[in-house]
Amino acid sequence: MLQVTQKIGIKRIIIAIDGPAASGKSTTARRVAQRLGYTYIDTGAMYRSVTLKALRTGILDELRRSPDRVFALLREITIYFDGDHVFLDGSDVTTDIRENRISREVSFISSLKPVRDKLVEMQQQLGRTGSVVMDGRDIGTVVFPDAELKIFLVADARERAKRRYAELVAKSQDNSTLPDLDLIEEEIRQRDKDDEEREYAPLKKHPDAQQIDTSSLTIDHQVEIVHNLALEVQRSGR
Ligand code: DC
Repeated sequence: MLQVTQKIGIKRIIIAIDGPAASGKSTTARRVAQRLGYTYIDTGAMYRSVTLKALRTGILDELRRSPDRVFALLREITIYFDGDHVFLDGSDVTTDIRENRISREVSFISSLKPVRDKLVEMQQQLGRTGSVVMDGRDIGTVVFPDAELKIFLVADARERAKRRYAELVAKSQDNSTLPDLDLIEEEIRQRDKDDEEREYAPLKKHPDAQQIDTSSLTIDHQVEIVHNLALEVQRSGR
């Protein structure tokens, strides 16, 4: 694919997709990347992996008292992607990082400056050759402020809670154990607040980003809009 795009002179761009939890970022980013033959990088999975490591090594509570201890955790950490799979220190953690306790703790871990510095550096390295769709909270503002296409996805909190609920129902064997919609919405609102109010690299729209409200869009429609914007930027050579 790389050879083909180079041969016909299409610009290899970076597409930064940011937005709050459950706004459809990862599904949109993954499918746009597939269509363009680009690499998809899920930066939320990287913050989740650091959180998993902090939990597994038993230092999470200690980090709340002494955040500087995070340097030791980061000194020996490897995170890489192989297709849709995420590897932490050589083990496949794709499923483990989606557990509820990780979702609850990840905002704290991602608020620590040394964690952000380390992961931003890794992300810039991963995207240095272009042909990348990267999604997160600070991709357009911090990681790649010069990304040729910046998208900011938003959606109504109730709508996002409904999407999360539908995902849980699809994965669950026993629906009676699922949290109710109000609780999911409350957790989503809390995570938005944590991500928007943190000191380092808070979630916010870059002034150049194109905001898309996905509340009443289907995933297919979202993908179509972002894909068309990407084709426009590629063609214009901006
Ligand atoms: O996209 P997600 O829900 O998997 O992200 C998990 C958390 O990671 C989210 O609450 C905020 C944090 N995050 C971040 O701070 N910066 C990013 N670029 C990506 C995610």
